[in-house]
Parts: sequence; C-alpha cells; structure tokens
Amino acid sequence: MKNIIQINIFILLLFFIWGCSTTTEQTAKENTPEIMEAKEVRDQHTYAKPQEAVVKHLNWEARVDFERQQIEAVARLDIEVADKAEELYLDTKGLIIDKVTLGEEEVMAVYEMGDYNAVTGTPLIIKITPKTRRVNVYYTTAKDAEALQWLNPEQTAGKNEPFLFTQSQAILARSWIPVQDSPGIRFTYSATVQVPSRLMALMSAENPMKKHESGIYKFEMKQPIPAYLMALAVGNLVFEPLGTRTGVYAEPAQIEKAAYEFAELDEMLEAAEKLYGPYRWERYDLIVLPPSFPFGGMENPRLTFATPTILAGDRSLTSLVAHELAHSWSGNLVTNATWDDFWLNEGFTVYFERRIMEAMYGRPYAEMLAELGYQDLKQTVEELMGEGKEEDTRLKLDLTGRNPDEGVTDVAYEKGYFFLRHLEGLVGREKFDEFLKEYFEKNAFQVMTTERFIKYLEENLLKPNNIEIAGTTYSDWIYGEGLPENMPEVDAELFNAVDRQLQAWKEGTPAASLQTDEWSSHEWLHFIRNLPDDLSADRLRELDQAFGFTQSGNSEVLAAWFMHAIAREYEPAYPALREFLNSVGRRKFLMPLYKKLTETEAGGILARDIYKTARPNYHFVSVNSLDALLKYREETKK
Ligand code: BES
Ligand code: ZN
Repeated sequence: MKNIIQINIFILLLFFIWGCSTTTEQTAKENTPEIMEAKEVRDQHTYAKPQEAVVKHLNWEARVDFERQQIEAVARLDIEVADKAEELYLDTKGLIIDKVTLGEEEVMAVYEMGDYNAVTGTPLIIKITPKTRRVNVYYTTAKDAEALQWLNPEQTAGKNEPFLFTQSQAILARSWIPVQDSPGIRFTYSATVQVPSRLMALMSAENPMKKHESGIYKFEMKQPIPAYLMALAVGNLVFEPLGTRTGVYAEPAQIEKAAYEFAELDEMLEAAEKLYGPYRWERYDLIVLPPSFPFGGMENPRLTFATPTILAGDRSLTSLVAHELAHSWSGNLVTNATWDDFWLNEGFTVYFERRIMEAMYGRPYAEMLAELGYQDLKQTVEELMGEGKEEDTRLKLDLTGRNPDEGVTDVAYEKGYFFLRHLEGLVGREKFDEFLKEYFEKNAFQVMTTERFIKYLEENLLKPNNIEIAGTTYSDWIYGEGLPENMPEVDAELFNAVDRQLQAWKEGTPAASLQTDEWSSHEWLHFIRNLPDDLSADRLRELDQAFGFTQSGNSEVLAAWFMHAIAREYEPAYPALREFLNSVGRRKFLMPLYKKLTETEAGGILARDIYKTARPNYHFVSVNSLDALLKYREETKK
C-alpha cells in the first residue's frame, strides 16, 4: 500500500515537472486568468517584504549639493510591523549609507547591505523589533545616481544656472531615496529640501509658487503614492498660473511660450473630470524641463514633468499633457501592481487621453491620433516579432530577471488602448464610461493586477450586460502574441485628404502646388511617414523647399522627417539632425534615429561621432538604451 502511494506521488511529480517545463508558447495558451491569479502576486523588482514591515510615511530631509552633484539626506520612515518581524527590507541602488537609527530617540541600528544586482540594486536590511515605529537612514547619493540628472548651466534654456531633475519610474527611486520601491507599496511623504538660494525646488507634492530666499522648501504629499512617483526638480524656475487649479513652471526664458502652449489646461482638467470623476489631487501643474529630459512626459502627482519639445508654438502636441493628466486616474489612483501589469497604467491612460482629446477637439481629431497610434503599434509588433521578442507583444508581460524598462513599448500603450476600445464596442460608450468611472472610484489608491481587472470586468461590465465574450478574448488580447483579429477599426477621415495629396505628388504634381492649407501637425506627420521609402535626395529637397521640414519647430515632424533624410542620405538636413541629437534627450526620438543611422556604414560612423558629444547631455535611461544599441563600451567612455 505504502509503495503504491509512493509510486502515485512519483507519477504526480513527473506530471508536475512536465507541466513546468512546457514551452513558452504553450504557457501562453494555458495562461488563463484563473491560473494566473492563483500564482502569487509578487513584484520581482523589489527587495521589500511588506508582509513583515511596510513603509507608511516618509519624512525626507535633504540638501542638494550642485558642486559635488550629490544629495545628502535623511529618510525618516514610519513603518507598520507584523508580529515577530525582525527586519525591514529597503531598496537602494548606489546609495552611500552613513548610518541608520531607530525611533525618535535615534538609537543606533544594526543593518547590512545585501548582494548587488545590476537591475534591482542592493537591499538594505535593517534589524527591527515588532515595536519599531520609525527608522532613520542617513545617506548620500552616488555621483552617477541613475534617477538624477545634473545639468550644467549650458544645458538649460537660460544658460546661467544649473538644474537637477529626477526620473524615478520604473525602479530608479531607489537610487536617490532608500524606500520600498514597488508600485504596490504606497506611502505619504513630507520633505524639507535645501537648495542654492537662487534656485527653486519642486516635488510631486504641494509646491511653492515663488522662490524662497532661504533656499529651504517644505513639501507635503497627503495622498499615499508609490515610490516611482517620487520626484524633485531644482532650477531657476518661475510660475505662471493658467487657471484656478492649474499652472506652469518653467525657466524664465520659456515661461511665456509655455503659458501660451498650455492655456487650455483648466479646460482639459474639466473635460477629464466630466468623463471619469473628480480629480483627487487638488492642483494640477506642469513643469517644462530642459531638453535632456528622457521622456515626453512623466505623471508625477500634482506636477507633471514635461519635455520642452512639446512647445510647438501652436498647441499641436498637447495630447501629451492629456496623457499625463489622465494618469492622475489610471496609474496614480489605480496603480499597476507589478511592472508586468504596466499596460493597466499606460493602455488605460492612452484610452483616457484620446477621450479627453475627443471631448475638446472632436472625434475626427482624436481619430487621427488613434490612427497614428495604430501605425506605431503595427510597426512595433513587426519589429518585436522579427527580433525574436514575440513574448513582449503580450499585454501581460513577464519581466522576470529583466529591467522593467524593456517592457516600455507601444504594446502596453496601443494594444492596451485598442483592447479598451474593443470593450467599449461590446457594450456601447455610455455603459463603458459608467464602468470606467466606477472602476477608478472603487479602486482609488489601490493596486490592480491584470487578473483582478479581468475579474472586475466580468463582474461589473460583462455579466450585468449579459455579454458573453468569445473564449479566446483574453488569450488573444492579454496573454497572446501579435495583434488579434478583432482589432477595432479606426476612421481617420482627415487623413484621406492627406493620402490624396500624397498620391498627386507621387504622380507628378509639384510639391509647391499641393493643397495643404489647414493641415495640423498630425496631418503632416501622416504625410511624412507615408512617403515612399525609395525617394531620391532630389525629391526630398523638393519637399523640403516647399514645406521647410528641416526647419520645422515641431519635434514630431522633425523626427519623422529625419528618418527619411537619414535613409536617403539627404545631407542638407544633417546639421539640423546633429543639433537635434545633441540637445534633445527624449528616448522616443533618439532610439529610432540612431537605429536608422546605424543601418548604413557611413551613418554608423556619423551616429558614433554625434553620440560622443551628445552622450553627456542624455539622462541615464536614454544612455542605457543607446549604449546597448551603439555597442558603446566602457573603455570608450573614458
Ligand atoms: N509614465 C510614462 C513614462 C515612463 C514609462 C517612464 C515607463 C518610465 C517608464 C509617461 O506617462 C509616458 O507614457 N510618456 C510618454 C508620453 C506619451 C504621450 C505616450 C512619452 O514620454 O513619450
Ligand atoms: Zn503614460
């Protein structure tokens, strides 16, 4: 009898091992929501053990030292501790820990640094007791702290004062604050920050509107936020109110342009609230950063960080602001539990962004944005498939052992968007809007996993409306690769006129005679993107002379145009290209341009030549991606 049981266990074990070793393709098919939910939700990218001890509030006291390019700080962490807990695990990367104390009386603590990992950094493990309520960490940031970018005066608009900004998403907060750096762990914070008296400091918190002569600034963030939303900017900044709840910070040289560009911000905020419920963060301000900011925008609560490349002069790139504003609901209120669920942040936000744009500028306008997004998605999916990265075309990612940055592709944004648009189509807009509004309200200040969302969707939208969705819906959209067959159709009617003009030009109408009046930059973008691949440099010159693309003040137009200029070696655009690559640090533009350059030998040489001078102007996240692309090695850095 005993033997039989043993044999049975053995057979079961064999089945188990066999089950675990199926290929990834099989795994994709078997990843039903039920199976995925049964797996423990665990954030692979943190050392934190929140079940033992979890941070609830951070009190940050810091001095920003521009000479040494470091921040000297104390992080006072209020924690909640489980019975029998003996350790608090914090994330750090490159931090130099001076000392750690416990409680208000600051008794010396015993701590150790764990093993370093290139992606996740080093755990700081502090001995505590179940009675410990506060831990104080005294530390200094490393010279090359990954979240921080220290700029010389020449790298700013005003050229007189230095500048510092942070970029914490996805897992870089740990390089400037010892925290539990997981999107699933929220805390409130207060801060006292000392900066040179000529500069102003701002955070993702309640902010000053004027410079303080003392150079000391106090901040308060009363709503709990995850660490990736911690942010700081220090520079020669001024504030300009835009509406009752909105305003913009920029360097004096850019404030006027910025105030013009974002004049409709209050209206945008109202449009957003009308769609999906009250704005929960009181004020909504923007800060225009120097051009090396590696992203278009970053949704730091109460204060969106934005690239100056959206100051086009004609308000044509404000969908980016709508995007960051929308994150005040999707992402900042309802937050992806792990970076594998990143599409919950970005896909929802793109959907929300386009609904704001539609409310403000009408459906034809928003459909142009959707079509451009669809083109991006198609191309990204093709590229990922071609590079053997099929798995990254799934909405639910598996970033085990990888940098979450690798999950930042158009898939999360655009496939996520189209999935929500597909759901909207199933129930109709009215019901879908009601559902989303309630979703944000019910899950506010909480985390969401993909599987919990599916369950929520079933219970709150599909079942009540008697909608049976195809059994393959989730495997196609969420756990499957490539693009599903039931992609919603986009109707970008405004692009029809563009297609007609493009056709006419191809058939011999001179560029100067094309009818392009009233085209927005989106129409221009569509025109440029759809130019044939095999144009001669002469044909490019003709377009350039008629439309002045090389001199465009619109960064999207410029970047799209440079792609053709590089492909056809159209040299008149090269000085402008060099200038663009030297000043702009936005990764979304840099990656395709450098990649295109490396496709030819001469281009590759040019790319490396430009990169040598431009590299010091880029933030770590851009450098990290570009070093890999250009195979830039440590030895060459010196
Ligand atoms: N939160 C993202 C930026 C981000 C994502 C930073 C992942 C680090 C890791 C932000 O909201 C964003 O999506 N920015 C886009 C703008 C946009 C309109 C799609 C960008 O920077 O291009
Ligand atoms: Zn976003």
